[in-house]
Amino acid sequence: MKAVVAGAAGGIGQPLSLLLKASPHVDHLSLYDVVNTPGVTADLSHISSVATIDGFLPADDGLKKAFTGADIVVIPAGIPRKPGMTRDDLFKINAGIVKGLIEGIVQHCPDAFILVISNPVNSTVPIAAEVLKKAGKFNPKKLFGVTTLDVVRAETFVREITGAKGDPSKTVIPVIGGHSGETIVPLFSQASPSVSIPQDKLDALTNRVQFGGDEVVKAKDGAGSATLSMAYAGFRFAEKVIRAAKGETGIVEPSFIYLAGVEGGEAVAKETGCEYFSVPVELGKDGAQKAHNIVTSANDYEKKLLQACYAGLKGNITKGVEFVANPP
Ligand code: NAD
Ligand code: LMR
Repeated sequence: MKAVVAGAAGGIGQPLSLLLKASPHVDHLSLYDVVNTPGVTADLSHISSVATIDGFLPADDGLKKAFTGADIVVIPAGIPRKPGMTRDDLFKINAGIVKGLIEGIVQHCPDAFILVISNPVNSTVPIAAEVLKKAGKFNPKKLFGVTTLDVVRAETFVREITGAKGDPSKTVIPVIGGHSGETIVPLFSQASPSVSIPQDKLDALTNRVQFGGDEVVKAKDGAGSATLSMAYAGFRFAEKVIRAAKGETGIVEPSFIYLAGVEGGEAVAKETGCEYFSVPVELGKDGAQKAHNIVTSANDYEKKLLQACYAGLKGNITKGVEFVANPP
């Protein structure tokens, strides 16, 4: 299992690479970034874990060397937000970065699982899909927008209200839709085991999950956005994809996918009117095996949230598709 991190020297890239280097599920880790990859690689190479490691800058065919033979490429490359910015404000720069990296994947490892972390995820995933489609290399089962941080936040924040003891990650809370503000829709009514949230606390809890990213951006005060919690979330999702690829069954995690190519996805697309949507996805050897149409189970409160989600998400998706169809 060869894993690649593209954007490996960044705030997310470094701790994410650390977690992948330490994972017993990874045999080889290749790091790629436009700066500082040699230092990060040398540092991680001293860790006595299973995975071997190498790292590359763009010079001397670095991208080709990093990507060739990859089974999974995780992409946290791109600029993060500063206070006052929306994720959409990152589009101008990150759209081109993601497009370039996906073109590299097309050339050097078109069969790899691709996990897109770079924001705005609602648009960068459609960009990735369009580039792959154009090249005739699109496999919807292998392209994932990473929305796990929203799930992790919901698991954490709900406990502050319920006061439940034990491991918070054992309470499964589907968070669906997209990955920005109102497009993020936590379905607390579908938690398993069920959670009891007083009605007067539900608005604040929902809002905190939807705008959890802003909380970190504000606290970092100009020094970027979530990196450590994102590395944890990105690793959690990547490891699940890897474990499923190795044959483990019964793994389900929400992810932002192109619905038409995945079993069960058509029903979600029909329900939501969106081509891409994050829903709980059953992972298998070949990637996204089945999309769970949990949208129909939402209660009335959540259905209202979903209406706002659809409107925002459709615009974000179209923007990504347009970027590849009519390059600026
Ligand atoms: P950062 O600036 O600390 O790191 C980004 C890294 O990408 C840098 O090292 C930079 O050199 C590298 N990079 C830029 N262009 C590149 C290219 N063409 N090829 C390879 N590497 C390249 O930023 P960060 O805090 O790590 O955030 C990265 C991205 O992740 C941002 O867009 C941020 O908004 C996003 N993010 C997403 C989520 C999510 O839930 N999906 C959560 C947090 C952050
Ligand atoms: C997050 O949710 O923390 C990330 O998408 C980063 C951001 O810009 O908020």
